[in-house]
Amino acid sequence: MAELNGKRLVLGVTGGIAAYKAAELARLFVKDGAEVNAVLTQSGAQFVTPATFQALTGKPAWSDLWDARMPDSMAHIDLSRGADVVVVAPASADFLAKLAHGLADDLLSTLCLARDCPLLVAPAMNRQMWENPATRRNISQLLQDGVIVLGPASGDQACGEIGMGRMLEAMELHDAVTGFFQPKMLARRRVMITAGPTFEALDAVRGLTNLSSGKMGFALARAVRDAGAEVTLVCGPVTQSTPAGVTRFDVTSTQEMHAAVMQRVAACDIFIGVAAVADYRPAETMRDKIKKDDKPMQIALVPNPDILAEVAARPGAPFCVGFAAESRDLEKYAEGKRQKKNLALVVGNLVQDGLGGDGNSVILFDEQGKHPLGPAPKIEIARGIVAHIGQMLAGDGRE
Ligand code: PMT
Repeated sequence: MAELNGKRLVLGVTGGIAAYKAAELARLFVKDGAEVNAVLTQSGAQFVTPATFQALTGKPAWSDLWDARMPDSMAHIDLSRGADVVVVAPASADFLAKLAHGLADDLLSTLCLARDCPLLVAPAMNRQMWENPATRRNISQLLQDGVIVLGPASGDQACGEIGMGRMLEAMELHDAVTGFFQPKMLARRRVMITAGPTFEALDAVRGLTNLSSGKMGFALARAVRDAGAEVTLVCGPVTQSTPAGVTRFDVTSTQEMHAAVMQRVAACDIFIGVAAVADYRPAETMRDKIKKDDKPMQIALVPNPDILAEVAARPGAPFCVGFAAESRDLEKYAEGKRQKKNLALVVGNLVQDGLGGDGNSVILFDEQGKHPLGPAPKIEIARGIVAHIGQMLAGDGRE
């Protein structure tokens, strides 16, 4: 999918070792359909060369305010006009200070001051520099000025220290920029999502589970966050990484998922059950590994709580969305679940389409009828579901 198709981006690169990640970021932007103009400061060009960006973007890279290749010698105006966004990654402490004070002594800082589009910055610096009161002041000034600050993250630093100041990874920045362009249909909503499988232990090493990878739930968490909502994700055992800005709670069993949801559900406006929750668990969990013998074995199972049905039945329940994965008769079973659990919306998918892979094909069932989406990558399906939820909320006066 080309999520940035037709978007025009200026990618500013300032002096920091994280500049090497900017090359990968340029590649991701271009791969996703964006037109990218790279602008390097003099210090940025000490770490990566303009030729790198020229090769990756297929366009000249810029760094000189007086560049004679620009016919009117006004690179700072020409590059910023028509841009949908300026992204500075990495943004050094020095460059953030310049932005905060409106200094304009090179092409990138002048272009940022002259721009008429949003500015996103991805700070990257040593942890002491990040924590220095001067940087704190500059960041808070930039936030007041409407600049969007992406990260930084905490972790190992090139200087050998550990702490806040690592630039976000290229993929995280790419996701943040694509998210920036999404309509804010769920602005200020508080949304809880369940995702992944649950695992019901039988003994010390075995249990009942299913093949859910968590990909659909995590794509939805990203899409909901990008639509402007505050997202809480309660997930079973999965290997997906948490989308930036999403609050995640890891659980194993259905009972743990039930407890995690019930503890927090009063504070949410929308609840979306994507998890493939085990309907039954072993009546008894053995502390030790069960030993083999030659006799047939029977396992007694007891029903688990139905988390979604319980949330939907609460007084003042949130707007509830369920998922239904079926191997046949999708329409009959999915619409049946919507009515039985009293849900506003059910997203139905066939297991052969949705389980485990990167794509899906779904049908949305609501009071108005059915609305097919896909086949498409899970993130695109998730954005379609979010748009549908946004329209339903706008329509029933919950705006
Ligand atoms: O994780 P992936 O590999 O990306 O796969 C995605 C998916 C196929 C798992 C997902 O798209 C999906 O369909 N999830 C729902 C799976 C399912 O079969 O649900 P269900 O029919 O058992 O339950 C219906 C709804 O009730 C679901 O919203 C479920 O989260 C919820 N439920 C079910 C049982 C239970 N005890 N508690 C619940 O909350």
